Amino acid sequence: MTTRIARSRREISRTPRCARNGKTNKKDKRCKRNTRSKEVQRAPSSNLLQRLYVTCEDVFKSGDAADLNPSDVQTLRLILDNMVLEDVGLCREIKFFNPAIEGDTRVGYTSIYQCKNYSICIFFLPTNAVIPLHNHPGMTVFSKLLIGTMHVKAYDWVNQVESEDSTTPPSKMRLAKLKANGIFTAPCDTSVLYPTSGGNIHEFRAITPCAILDVIGPPYSIEEGRDCSYYKDIPYQTLPMGGKGSLINKEEAGSYGWLEEIETPEEAHMYGVCYMGPQIIETAP
Ligand SMILES: [Fe+2]
Repeated sequence: MTTRIARSRREISRTPRCARNGKTNKKDKRCKRNTRSKEVQRAPSSNLLQRLYVTCEDVFKSGDAADLNPSDVQTLRLILDNMVLEDVGLCREIKFFNPAIEGDTRVGYTSIYQCKNYSICIFFLPTNAVIPLHNHPGMTVFSKLLIGTMHVKAYDWVNQVESEDSTTPPSKMRLAKLKANGIFTAPCDTSVLYPTSGGNIHEFRAITPCAILDVIGPPYSIEEGRDCSYYKDIPYQTLPMGGKGSLINKEEAGSYGWLEEIETPEEAHMYGVCYMGPQIIETAP
C-alpha cells in the first residue's frame, strides 16, 4: 500500500481552523476528495480506528471534558495503547520517518476526524521539530506516540492558594509545577492530560521523526473560549524573588517554573497534511 505525507499549498497557523471550531471547511473536504489515492481507497478500514471513533462518540457525548468518567478514560486509553502506525494508514518505511534525513523542522498536522465534541488528529514532527509550550483550556487530551523518540515537558498551573507566595514576581508570570520532563520512545503508553491536571501545558521536541496520534475533547474553539496560548518557561529559582522567603523550598524548586504567555512562536506554525489512511464510518446519532 502506498501511503504518503503530502504537503498542502497553504501554510496554516497552529491547529488549523477547521480543527479549532470543530467543523470541516470546504478546503479540507476538497483536500480529502482530491488526494485520496486508489491505494488508499482500497485500504481496509482499521478496526481499532473505528473502535476509537465509536468510543469517542460515547466518551465525549456530554461535550464537557471535566465530566469524563475514569472508566471511560481507561477504555479510550487502552484502545490508543494498542494502536500502531498501520491503523492510520502509515508505515515506518515512509521517507519522512527515516532519521537519517534532516532538513525542514516544521511540524505537519492532519485531521482524521473532527466534530463539535472532539477531534482525532496526527502531528508529524521531523527530527529537531518542536511543538512549543502550549495549553489546552478546558480539555482532555490523549496522546499516543506512534513512532519516534521525543522529549516531553509538561506543567500544571499551581492553584491560587498554593501560589499565594509573597515572592511572586511582579509580572504576568504564573507559577506552574512540572509534571513531566523526560524522553519517550514508541511504543509507549498513551498519556492523558486533563483540564487542570496531568500536564495541561506541554511541549514536544522530536529527537527522531515522530508521529503523535491525539484525541482532543473538546477541540480548540475560539468561539467557545478555548483558544491556544503559548508560553516560555523560566526555572523557579532564576528569578530574584524565587529564593529567600519562598514557600517552595530548595529541594522542590526544580519541580516548579514560571510560565509567561508569549506571542505565537514561529515553530507553532504547522503545515497541513492530507489524511490518506482508513476512513472512519460515521454511525447514526
Ligand atoms: Fe498539545
